[in-house]
Amino acid sequence: MSNLINESFKLPCGQVLKNRVCKAAMTERIAKGNNLANQGHINLYDRWADGDIGILLTGNVQVDRRNLEGPANVVIDKNNYKEQFDSLKAWSEAGTKNNTQLWMQISHAGRQTPGEINSSPMAPSNIGLKIPGKNYGTPTPMTEDDILDVIERFVFTANIARETGFTGVQFHSAHGYLLSEFLSPDINDRTDAWGGSVENRARIHLEIIKRCRQEVGDDFPISVKMNSADFQKGGFAPDDSIRVAQMLENAGVDIIEISGGTYEQPKLIGVDDLTINPKRSEQRKESTIAREAYFLEYAKDIRNAVSLPLMVTGGFRTKEAIEVALQSNVCQIIGIGRPLCADPYCVKKMIAGELETLPSFEKTLSLGPSILSPSSPFTIIKVINAFGAMAWFYQQIKNMAKGLMPNHEQKLFNAFRADMKADKLAIKDYLENN
Ligand SMILES: Cc1cc2nc3c(=O)[nH]c(=O)nc-3n(C[C@H](O)[C@H](O)[C@H](O)COP(=O)(O)O)c2cc1C
Repeated sequence: MSNLINESFKLPCGQVLKNRVCKAAMTERIAKGNNLANQGHINLYDRWADGDIGILLTGNVQVDRRNLEGPANVVIDKNNYKEQFDSLKAWSEAGTKNNTQLWMQISHAGRQTPGEINSSPMAPSNIGLKIPGKNYGTPTPMTEDDILDVIERFVFTANIARETGFTGVQFHSAHGYLLSEFLSPDINDRTDAWGGSVENRARIHLEIIKRCRQEVGDDFPISVKMNSADFQKGGFAPDDSIRVAQMLENAGVDIIEISGGTYEQPKLIGVDDLTINPKRSEQRKESTIAREAYFLEYAKDIRNAVSLPLMVTGGFRTKEAIEVALQSNVCQIIGIGRPLCADPYCVKKMIAGELETLPSFEKTLSLGPSILSPSSPFTIIKVINAFGAMAWFYQQIKNMAKGLMPNHEQKLFNAFRADMKADKLAIKDYLENN
């Protein structure tokens, strides 16, 4: 078998990656109370930087404290950057050791902001999301000034990333957060310059990238994480993603990461429809190269239309699938998420030839057999399994942030309960501080 996984790779901006693996962005949710970077981030990335990974992407760092993905996200804005400048520097020092790239993922949660944080979050339009057992407010459509403000916020945070030693940035335009909401015609029904045609829906991205490139210079990696599709009827479709990829290439992006899905259609973690109306769902194409790689088939179509590097994330577990995908030249980088929560050194072991399959804990995590399992016919059970499995991975991230190793003995329901409790406390702290 070839060993492309361990070959270096030069990005268009000139930066060289030591190998072909990227730790995918995974929200840390450990900036409880003040939303500032802390020792937990340093511990985590210090650990992952020992894992022989080319790029470490941070979890989503937010540009606006009113629109978070979770109450304990890191926020960087004009009011708090000085306070956390030194912690950010220490974070980047830890995450860039061993010639590792550390890129900050920058985001705005848009309509996916939990209702407890903001009952009327900003979004392109006023279309809210509905997931049983979850609370999301009806969004407030953004004014032109709101949009220009958000663009400046993304650029500001990217600048701070560079100044504090992060070696690249990624703008999060996947999974149903603000930037991807702009791309999705079913939830962006604007009739101005920021809605309608795909060019208009992508405008906010192009403005951010243009401004960011001017500020950070030509040698600094800029990436975008983009959905191949939302898998919602009438949503962001594969043809749109091809057009947007071409626009991002022309705008000077170094690499596009391909993912897919939203909270309602969490295909990003291989889970199907969580809405109360399954008719809105569209199925994912099965990859013929390797069934495990959720979005490789979509990336193939994008590859035929662009020449910039692509990263594909979601489902990769075996060395064979990784090598086949790299050899096909559809993508140059492979993103790995959950296995690196279960074992921060699993990529290193694979590169060293000690491991053929990355730990796939998501396949065995379940509330119980059949009727209680992730394939239960009851949406609420499916939701608890899906969010419970995510909670299990959050718990492992939190363990590593404390300087511990992941706890494989933890049960899904316990993780779910612990995560709900932590989230409740974090929301209380957030509300007291804001
Ligand atoms: C605990 C957890 C947190 C995540 N947080 C983020 C995030 O902050 N930003 C993002 O783009 N994707 C996030 N994701 C999605 C991952 O980046 C990745 O797309 C997904 O886990 C599929 O890759 P995998 O099959 O290798 O895990 C998260 C996933 C998990 C499991």
